[in-house]
Amino acid sequence: MKTKTDISRELGLEVGSICGKYFLKLDHLHYGYWTGDIEVDITNLHLAQDQYAKFVISHIPDGVRTILDVGCGTGQVARKLLDMGYEVDCVSPSPFLKARASELLGNSSHIFECFYENLQTPNRYDLVLFCESFQYIAMQQALSNSDRFLNKGGYLLICDIFGRDIKGRAVIGGGHKLTEFYDLVKNFPFRLIENLDITEQTAPNLDLLNDALQNVVQPLVNAGVRLLEDRHRFALKFLRWKYRKKINRLHRKHLDGHKTGKNFKKYKSYQLFLYKKDVQQ
Ligand SMILES: C[S@@+](CC[C@H](N)C(=O)[O-])C[C@H]1O[C@@H](n2cnc3c(N)ncnc32)[C@H](O)[C@@H]1O
Repeated sequence: MKTKTDISRELGLEVGSICGKYFLKLDHLHYGYWTGDIEVDITNLHLAQDQYAKFVISHIPDGVRTILDVGCGTGQVARKLLDMGYEVDCVSPSPFLKARASELLGNSSHIFECFYENLQTPNRYDLVLFCESFQYIAMQQALSNSDRFLNKGGYLLICDIFGRDIKGRAVIGGGHKLTEFYDLVKNFPFRLIENLDITEQTAPNLDLLNDALQNVVQPLVNAGVRLLEDRHRFALKFLRWKYRKKINRLHRKHLDGHKTGKNFKKYKSYQLFLYKKDVQQ
């Protein structure tokens, strides 16, 4: 069953995908991978996102033929994989994103419309891919399902945000605790083949977000409040009082200027993991 958090996350991704597509011509739903050759600027985000997709795809081992793309978003990564000759199925719990992915993939891919936790299929794959979707799925189930849906000798490829063990409240959300992931993955028949830390290359996304929050969202909120003060002064006073806790929380979370690349590097760790399912087990 969908929880309130699941619903608001899906809604957030849906809004992100609509705005990103309309204002910035973004096709992907993941972070950008910033290397020195692209200036960190919001208008270059689509290039950095493309670099991210290429980076992840470049770590698919030789011999892989069939892929399960878990949390396929708009289907752009799956499209690239299909064009490279892989057979790809997808999982998408969001009807909105599934519709966008279906448009792009047509009949060349089967999209399971469900949470990965609930996926039922007799299909087995050479590689299970989590392209910035691992953080949304309970780890135990994400790993046990991947074990189940992988062929013997298959691969698990995860590229996503994890949380560092830092005392105090993280000012940036998202991502499973890295230490908990290490503790859990030990219990599965997965052997680590490759591990890369790309925190440095992904941190600039937060500076862009912070910039947009400070220079677009905050001034828009201020303008809206001024309008309400002018037209509905007493109603605004009441709403401010009634929802003061929520307003303070939202402000603390999004508008206090803490969502920076520097804090991302302090609290988060962006990792690529490639595991092989051991044949002996
Ligand atoms: C940040 S987007 C990444 C999308 C895509 N992989 C990409 O790289 O552009 C996260 C994706 O995970 C999906 N997702 C969230 N919770 C999920 C779950 N429990 N099972 C499967 N997919 C999930 C969302 O619908 C969304 O497509």
